Amino acid sequence: MNILETKVIEGFCRMCQDGYDLGWHERNGGNLTYRMKNEEVEEVKANFEPKEWKSIGTSVPGLAGEYFIVTGSGKYFRNVSLAPEKNIAIIELDETGENYRIVWGLVEGGRPTSELPSHLMNHEVKKAATNGMHRVIYHCHTTNVIALTFVLPLTDEVFTRELWEMATECPVVFPGGVGVVGWMVPGGREIAVATSELMKKYDVAVWAHHGIFCSGEDFDLTFGLAHTVEKSAEILVKVLAMSPNKLQTITPNNFRDLAKDFNVSLPEEFLYEK
Ligand code: 13P
Ligand code: ZN
Repeated sequence: MNILETKVIEGFCRMCQDGYDLGWHERNGGNLTYRMKNEEVEEVKANFEPKEWKSIGTSVPGLAGEYFIVTGSGKYFRNVSLAPEKNIAIIELDETGENYRIVWGLVEGGRPTSELPSHLMNHEVKKAATNGMHRVIYHCHTTNVIALTFVLPLTDEVFTRELWEMATECPVVFPGGVGVVGWMVPGGREIAVATSELMKKYDVAVWAHHGIFCSGEDFDLTFGLAHTVEKSAEILVKVLAMSPNKLQTITPNNFRDLAKDFNVSLPEEFLYEK
């Protein structure tokens, strides 16, 4: 089986291209990881050439022995579809969940994304929280969400409520809300711990002045989630650019009515009176 023709690699590359096309991946900005299904690993295993084990930089015992498709550090999303084997890799985790090795890809050298600790700690939390359903973690530099982190208070309550108000579908697409991490140095264990803590509760975490992390079951749902959040942020940026005050909006009671009809539960902590 030509590994580049498998559905999972094609889907991974398409998501990278879509994110690039929407302007969320300047230079090497952003990263994507996917926790592979057993049958997907079996399908491509013949292509594997394991390299040496390396430390992940954190411990994810809940992911021991799993395989992930990952973008390479310093690699550009705009190049992924053109040459997947140079820009992405498949990695295997060891039985302790503390080390990884590249088994395919990054043929001209390189290492997995510098945000690997955040990705893997998020995967570990989400795998446990969703009974193994969530497989995709996506980090992108969404312009409008980033812009909002300069003018809105950096709280889960304000970001969730303001994004929900900007488009009626938002509370249906992310009924759990979004979490916010204040500015931190990227790439290390500390920001990974803070993000994975939020991922216990949310499927979206905003990194102040940096971008977002999203989690989902598959490429469509995870990309769609990032797209919905960023679209909502774009509307809010336009509204704020026109006027600091809204003349009318979706009210807390409107949200409660929506929740009943769409059969979602919207936590009351986000439906505060302003
Ligand atoms: P990488 O190129 O290492 O994936 O880093 C890009 C990025 O967005 C860091 O937050
Ligand atoms: Zn980033």
